[in-house]
Amino acid sequence: RAWLQYRSIGDEGYQKKVLSYFSSIHLDCNRDVIIDRALEEIQLAMFEMVGFSPNISQNGGSFVINVDSNLAKEGFQVKSTDSGLTLTGGSSRAVLYGIFHILREIQSETPLNTMDCYEAPKNAFRMINHWDDMNGDVERGYAGQSFFYDDYQFIKDRARIHDYARLLSSVGINALTINNVNVHQVESHLITDKYLDEVKQTSDIFNQYGITMYLSINYASPIEFGGLDTADPLDERVIQFWKQTVQHVYKRVPQLGGFLVKADSENRPGPFTYDRNHAEGANMLADALAPFGGIVIWRCFVYNCKQDWRDRKTDRARAAYDHFMPLDGQFKDNVVLQIKNGPMDFQVREPVSPLIGGLEKTNQFLEFQIAQEYLGQQRHLVYLIPQWKEVLAFDTQAKGEGTQVKDIVSGDVFDQSISGIVAVSNVGNDYNWTGHTMAQLNLYGYGRLIWNPDLSAEAIALEWTKQTFGRDHHVVDHIMQMVMPSWEIYENYTSPLGIGWMVNVSHHYGPNIDGYEYMAWGTYHFADRDGIGVDRTIETGTGYAGQYHPVNRDVYNALESCPDELLLFFHHVPYTHQLKSGKTVIQHIYDTHFKGVEQVEAMIDDWQQLKNKVDERRFKDVSERLDHQLYMAKEWRDIINTYFYRKSGIDDQHKRTIY
Ligand code: GCU
Repeated sequence: RAWLQYRSIGDEGYQKKVLSYFSSIHLDCNRDVIIDRALEEIQLAMFEMVGFSPNISQNGGSFVINVDSNLAKEGFQVKSTDSGLTLTGGSSRAVLYGIFHILREIQSETPLNTMDCYEAPKNAFRMINHWDDMNGDVERGYAGQSFFYDDYQFIKDRARIHDYARLLSSVGINALTINNVNVHQVESHLITDKYLDEVKQTSDIFNQYGITMYLSINYASPIEFGGLDTADPLDERVIQFWKQTVQHVYKRVPQLGGFLVKADSENRPGPFTYDRNHAEGANMLADALAPFGGIVIWRCFVYNCKQDWRDRKTDRARAAYDHFMPLDGQFKDNVVLQIKNGPMDFQVREPVSPLIGGLEKTNQFLEFQIAQEYLGQQRHLVYLIPQWKEVLAFDTQAKGEGTQVKDIVSGDVFDQSISGIVAVSNVGNDYNWTGHTMAQLNLYGYGRLIWNPDLSAEAIALEWTKQTFGRDHHVVDHIMQMVMPSWEIYENYTSPLGIGWMVNVSHHYGPNIDGYEYMAWGTYHFADRDGIGVDRTIETGTGYAGQYHPVNRDVYNALESCPDELLLFFHHVPYTHQLKSGKTVIQHIYDTHFKGVEQVEAMIDDWQQLKNKVDERRFKDVSERLDHQLYMAKEWRDIINTYFYRKSGIDDQHKRTIY
């Protein structure tokens, strides 16, 4: 149930008010399946919160629901009247969002006569990407197995998908893909008759909650099952293959949103094989999808993953910009580029991808990862919203000062026809959805944040905590104390100053400083006995800093102005280099790593205060994960500190134990 707990309301006065406001519902609009879900939700919630399930009638009632197409399509308005409340939505979907909004407010016991508001999402597309494989595994999944597939079949019992769709729509998600961006052999057939019936059934479930479904496709499908020997986007046979395939798919699944494509990336096929560029590659699919209103979501995660580690010129961070900037303006209207938030890969700290703010004539989605691949894999408590808020607030300077990422990805700055935010999912079939109960907050927060990027991380965490654990101050305060600094804490005991990685190869969990240092993936720290960091400056480095607009370029490019937290991303410096904080790099490494462990200990203390205040199962689960987090934080601390002590030979000023 995650945050849809609908606890019974304790305060008697408030309970009475709710009863009187919601004693009956006056439905002043046509019913459809989405409205049905909305009504079901409020009836269920009322029953659980006040023990009474309101009647629905077409003539009179204290709570009025109507639709007014003059409002924004996904916008809704709540107004208090003499006799109750009125909810007006711009569409059925908006009504559903409005109901979830009201229920959220009631759970926080917001006075009913102060609920007046108008809400509309900042981002038109609010999407989740699943990395589920049909064998039942989830790539980078940390919450059990897939609840879509098992053993190369769709799971027949779809109850969990219903529940999931409910959870997603409760935070305003309106789009998702259900299969991994790495489309393997079996999954390539999702767009064939073999699976289309079940694709349709799954899509129908999501549609009831106002969510449009998309599929990830294999760019080499013409070869995989089309009987062709090429996937060249300019080859007439390939063009025909896709036209026919798409036509067939839409005949069977008319509501499908379109395709997501990972091409020429990490060994996936793509247009490069045929000496075509990505605009040619994407536009061919776009033409096939256009008659059906479908879109192509094309990922920019394109880099050379077979780099020679000896080659100091090639820089993975540059890759997306180098590939896609020259194509700005060449993509069709129904193509949208999906850009990871940073130039590398969802690290604990990265600068914002310079493509955002670089591209002016191309539709774009910003991509986050809710799954904590590099942030503790849902075994560590890390609240991601503070990180994402920094990304969204970043001033790209694209149109002068104040051109923030949030306004670019929402389509407001460059007026794109398709825009929004997408994130890699963190759910699976674990009883609590997300492995770590606290990781539910990242899914919840993701939805809330992309609906309204101006919500504070604190406000979002508060909402979630109250809905998930109740309103007891003691509980709320301790959870807030754990959650709010958790990203900083994780950064403290892991990879320092923006350098990233230092994890074990392939599964990416736990410290291994040189794990990727001599590999082909382009993720290096270059630590030697004198210093550490990647020189990405214009003059002596890879030139990556030059991909930013002038103000940011200059800030990052100069050692003096580069912010501490990104120092090693942009510069190679001696261990004795003095940070803006006044500390040397090496002392900063020691201090943050000792501190990080202490902070995890404090988190555990906070949680222990909640014994008997949180149900046993969740209490025990979280306790166990926190103990593990502490164990791992110590591993990180000792391995990092020891490694750099041995490399540099420089003592800790405070003479703490380093091995
Ligand atoms: C990361 C991740 C892969 C994933 C890739 C992607 O590299 O480790 O598992 O496939 O991102 O985003 O495509």
